Amino acid sequence: MRSRDAAARTPIIAGNWKMHKTYAEAVSLTQGIIDRLPKDATRRADVVLCPPFTALRGVSNAIAFDHARIKVGAQDCSAEPEGAYTGQVSVAMIADLDAAYAIVGHSERRGLLGETSADVAAKARALCAAGLTPIVCVGESREVYEAGDTIDFVVDEVAASLAGVCADADAAGLCVAYEPIWAIGTGLVPSPEHAQRVAAAIRAQVGATCGAQVAERARVLYGGSVKPGNVAAFMAQQDVDGALVGGASLDADTFVRLVLSALGE
Ligand code: PGA
Repeated sequence: MRSRDAAARTPIIAGNWKMHKTYAEAVSLTQGIIDRLPKDATRRADVVLCPPFTALRGVSNAIAFDHARIKVGAQDCSAEPEGAYTGQVSVAMIADLDAAYAIVGHSERRGLLGETSADVAAKARALCAAGLTPIVCVGESREVYEAGDTIDFVVDEVAASLAGVCADADAAGLCVAYEPIWAIGTGLVPSPEHAQRVAAAIRAQVGATCGAQVAERARVLYGGSVKPGNVAAFMAQQDVDGALVGGASLDADTFVRLVLSALGE
């Protein structure tokens, strides 16, 4: 049973489309989700679609056209407001395309592109200052997990990735996604009890870094091989308020089944 605090936090299911879907494919996937998702679901949960930058406008237009309550997020942003940063996209640019969220610090960016927790914190600060909600990703490698060092590792990563975000985090609404690197795209998942222990430790660290009020309201997501068949067990955990979904968000039927299952239907 979720506690009163947990019940006060709106569940969130975010689809991370990664580098999938052209503009036309993204619009068609969005339309498929809108057509299948009962209106009631988006009153009970924040459903967030995170397409590539190139499809943000198409996705947000499709949602607006249908007056759907689905929300839009980017998969990254620059920490800089503007300037000579070839290839980068600013917070103002994604906000202009109706993105209300942005994923920052995904392990694919940390691992493949060398993004540091300091970089992630700067992006989270820029998002919060503009009133957008960051979904800050953290998570351990298989080696760290097997050594039993997950909580120490993740707590340090949260502290470093949230440095200085406190001031605006409450208004913007902070999300932290716990994504064990070894669970992403592999079909492997930790036990829901493990996810709960880590989520509780994340919330405690958010409290230490950003204060009790931000921690109480912050939503902690689990990510890594989330499917329609396993999402309910993660969502049943007291400190798990949502899911960040990769592969299973790329098909309208599967994603809608996942959202409904997350809501206990
Ligand atoms: P997955 O990806 O659901 O395909 O494991 C999750 C993520 O990387 O956000």
